[in-house]
Amino acid sequence: MQRILVLPGDGIGPEIVNEALKVLDRVAELEGLDLEIDEGLIGGAGYDAAGDPYPATTRAMAREADAILLGAVGGPQYEALDRPLRPERGLLGIRSDLNLFANLRPAILYSQLAEASTLRPEVVAGLDLLIVRELTGDIYFGQPRGVEERDGERVGFNTAIYSESEIERIARVAFDAAMKRGRRLCSVDKANVLEVSELWREVVIRVGRDYPEVELSHMYVDNAAMQLVRAPKQFDVIVTGNIFGDILSDEAAMLTGSIGMLPSASLNAERAGLYEPIHGSAPDIAGQDRANPIATVLSVAMMLRHSLGHEAAAARIETAVGRVLDQGLRTADIVSEGCTLVGTAAMGDALVAAMN
Ligand code: NAD
Ligand code: IPM
Ligand code: MN
Repeated sequence: MQRILVLPGDGIGPEIVNEALKVLDRVAELEGLDLEIDEGLIGGAGYDAAGDPYPATTRAMAREADAILLGAVGGPQYEALDRPLRPERGLLGIRSDLNLFANLRPAILYSQLAEASTLRPEVVAGLDLLIVRELTGDIYFGQPRGVEERDGERVGFNTAIYSESEIERIARVAFDAAMKRGRRLCSVDKANVLEVSELWREVVIRVGRDYPEVELSHMYVDNAAMQLVRAPKQFDVIVTGNIFGDILSDEAAMLTGSIGMLPSASLNAERAGLYEPIHGSAPDIAGQDRANPIATVLSVAMMLRHSLGHEAAAARIETAVGRVLDQGLRTADIVSEGCTLVGTAAMGDALVAAMN
């Protein structure tokens, strides 16, 4: 038996997770999987129930689980809270607690959605890139950080910091991934300005000597942001730090039609993992049956593949997504002329029906 911890979170989190669980139930039935599914609290939901965005009960369950599925955290009602109590801290807490340093964010365009992208179809058709984002270091976690009084006014500060070992381990994940794909890796940094990036580049080059078959290139992050919309198909695998990876993956999401399409896997050295869509809690559409559940459903597929070893089940889910798109069913974020607009729950039901 394998244990899955489900953390729906806030906003659209519970809605999209609900659909993803319908899909998981169905695929477990079809594939004869023996899964135990527990539910826990994180983010604002954790704060509301237990005064903590990453409650001790959730922490204990997370450490026992074989894999974790997370919806999203955050919302305007929590913005006035002290920083340690904010929903986002719950997410950062679980990533750091489980040492989930490797965040895989694949941006794949389903051919049916070429028209849904804001870019011309020929720019994005066939897009298949992987962003490998370092997830437990950088300016997100560096010390010192804070707001303090200096010379009669307040200053805010954070510290971008990476150790050689942190850079080396994420570089190895990226090179290994590149070996299984197109064997091209682009490391994105800001080495023309930042010392932390200078070290990043040096270590990536050093690790690259162990991967002579991978063609390694380097790009400054500002140029990378531009190249991603100019000619995104030039990329195979991108490896970058925490903050650049956060920003570039939202940008890459739009190449696939919508941020509602992009799944992610966050892995540690043991490959136990947390799986979540890359988007947030979307307070603007929460509770309206409008959210696209596909990013979360595809996160379930990644979970079955990377942490639970059920490749056939993962493939069934990915095939079902293609079938539903073939049927012309679209949530509002990816709808285009001639397609049928459906809500969150109807999309989940269609995905279940498309699996056999
Ligand atoms: P967001 O990703 O929640 O939303 C950005 C835009 O994309 C919104 O217009 C939203 O409606 C749309 N969108 C997002 N997911 C969608 C989906 N599945 N289907 C259709 N449309 C979708 O980002 P934001 O508005 O900047 O942040 C809202 C809250 O979410 C904040 O509290 C933020 O901190 C949090 N957040 C959480 C995560 C996470 O849990 N991993 C990620 C990003 C942001
Ligand atoms: C993401 C989110 C998180 C991040 C926030 C909510 C802490 O934007 O998962 O991409 O910045 O990593
Ligand atoms: Mn983000």
